[in-house]
Amino acid sequence: MRILVTGATGNVGRMVVDELLARGATDVRALTVDPARAALPPGVEVVRGFVGRPATMPAALAGVDRLYLAPHPATAPAVCRLAAEAGVRLIVDMAGAKGEHWQAVEDAVEECGVPWVHLEPGEFMANADIWAPQIRAGDVVKDAWGDAANAPVAQEDIAAVAAHVLLADGFEGRSLELTGPESLTRREKVAAIGRALGRDLTYVELAGDPALQHFTSVMGEHGGWYLDGLAQLAAHPQRAVSTVADVLGRPALGYEEWARRHADLFR
Ligand SMILES: NC(=O)c1ccc[n+]([C@@H]2O[C@H](COP(=O)([O-])OP(=O)(O)OC[C@H]3O[C@@H](n4cnc5c(N)ncnc54)[C@H](OP(=O)(O)O)[C@@H]3O)[C@@H](O)[C@H]2O)c1
Repeated sequence: MRILVTGATGNVGRMVVDELLARGATDVRALTVDPARAALPPGVEVVRGFVGRPATMPAALAGVDRLYLAPHPATAPAVCRLAAEAGVRLIVDMAGAKGEHWQAVEDAVEECGVPWVHLEPGEFMANADIWAPQIRAGDVVKDAWGDAANAPVAQEDIAAVAAHVLLADGFEGRSLELTGPESLTRREKVAAIGRALGRDLTYVELAGDPALQHFTSVMGEHGGWYLDGLAQLAAHPQRAVSTVADVLGRPALGYEEWARRHADLFR
């Protein structure tokens, strides 16, 4: 069974390749625009291409049975049609919560007629990098909507679930909402990062104009949009679901442990 991993040097895609190999897959093809730079593991067939450029896909899809589809909404319809034409028998796409920006990916997958599994991660734990410059500079973290809570998921777990369902039968037609094991407020996340680093971080709550100024300085024109999202989350906290543990038979990675493993991000 030949499996094509798109975005194979991306954060998730690269780990999907590793997870497939760890599970004994022997016919893994990895897609990258630059095979020489990609440094993919031995035993993987590396092919040149990018899902954002559908013209590069027919050669990559030749002889492929199952496809891991990285999220590129604009070109997903064309890529999925090509996958159907190439005889792909399962598409595992990684998008996001239903009805959001990534919905176009799921729509394209369903329209092409190939059996599918949708992976629907919420926020990635790696988005904690928004606090990294402040934590590298000192012990104070200025932020907003400290009580807004969600259950971010580790990219490691997304990749493990992707590999599992690419190799298993019986998941076709399922949408797998993926979260971490617990819902945490922003205040609690900063405290967890502090514990992981062995430091006592002080959370400083900003509101109104100071909050807008701060987030605009961090993320430019998207600052206001991001604050609106936090307000929504404060009103409607995201709960944790058990999908990762149910599929993998082991607990999802917790936030503090994730921060411990990625401590270099904050040093
Ligand atoms: N952060 C969140 O909370 C969240 C939540 C849901 C979904 N997402 C989305 O999930 C995805 C994360 O997956 P991922 O890290 O595995 O990345 P990805 O977007 O799936 O794949 C990135 C790879 O695509 C290839 N690529 C080639 N040309 C590119 C181009 N012009 N622009 C972008 N990529 C190009 C690159 O590999 P080569 O250079 O080797 O070809 C790159 O390593 C992102 O699209 C992210 O927006 C994020």
